[in-house]
Amino acid sequence: MGDGKDGILKGQRALVTGASSGIGKAIAAALAEAGASVAVNFRAGGDKANAVVDEIRGRGGDAIALQADVGSEYEVHEMFLQMIKHYGSIDILVNNAGVQKDAPFHEMTIEQWNEAISVDLTGQFLCSREAVREFMRRGMVPELSSALGKIICISSVHDTIPWAGHANYAAAKGGVKMFMKTIAQELAPLKIRVNAVSPGAIKTEINKSVWDTSEGLKGLLDLIPYGRIGEVEDVARAVVWLASDDSDYITGDVLYVDGGMMLYPEFRTGG
Ligand code: BGC
Repeated sequence: MGDGKDGILKGQRALVTGASSGIGKAIAAALAEAGASVAVNFRAGGDKANAVVDEIRGRGGDAIALQADVGSEYEVHEMFLQMIKHYGSIDILVNNAGVQKDAPFHEMTIEQWNEAISVDLTGQFLCSREAVREFMRRGMVPELSSALGKIICISSVHDTIPWAGHANYAAAKGGVKMFMKTIAQELAPLKIRVNAVSPGAIKTEINKSVWDTSEGLKGLLDLIPYGRIGEVEDVARAVVWLASDDSDYITGDVLYVDGGMMLYPEFRTGG
């Protein structure tokens, strides 16, 4: 990739939630490589977010760090004020922030339930609502994009595949899928595109306890027909495409980036 100055997203302004590590960090870097100015949202750990910003700037890109808990209406509102103050508007929102708070169902606490729903689902609602309000206020800028705005919701294969021990997470991700499709339907006449990228097993901290042991990794690979665990860049490339006019006729879709995890690999030899 080039230095982004003539990239596919040149002049556009993006906000990526949960971008201080993992998939969000890779998305922020890839959007910047493609020429967008990028706000790197984080909830805690400003040092890591600043390091992402420094890395992007080091490669000639443009980025700032913005702190907010996406589950807080007040903090999300303040974050968008900062974004608009600094960059003038927003063209691309990537709802990436996500947590897992796993527990056997009968032991799941209300705190674990609420935390997953707040970050993984309510956060997508709050950030999308602010972005849409700003898209509508700003109006079309045809030199930048054929769309009024683009929202990409990072979901999961578990928006469809049930997942024992993760009832809160699966409920949130299933919710993200229908939330995304519903607002895509509602906002298409305004030329706002809303899509989801649903990753399978991507090598990050969130699932390190699984891929870090040879037994865990083998169990995981049995679920991935393509035969490898995903890399954060696999997801980031899909997000850049959905953010660009190359995907201009696509809205309300879920793009699974999962090496075939959604293909029910257990049925290759069963059923
Ligand atoms: C989860 C990972 C998991 C993957 C596949 C993701 O949504 O966050 O922990 O490895 O789904 O099951």
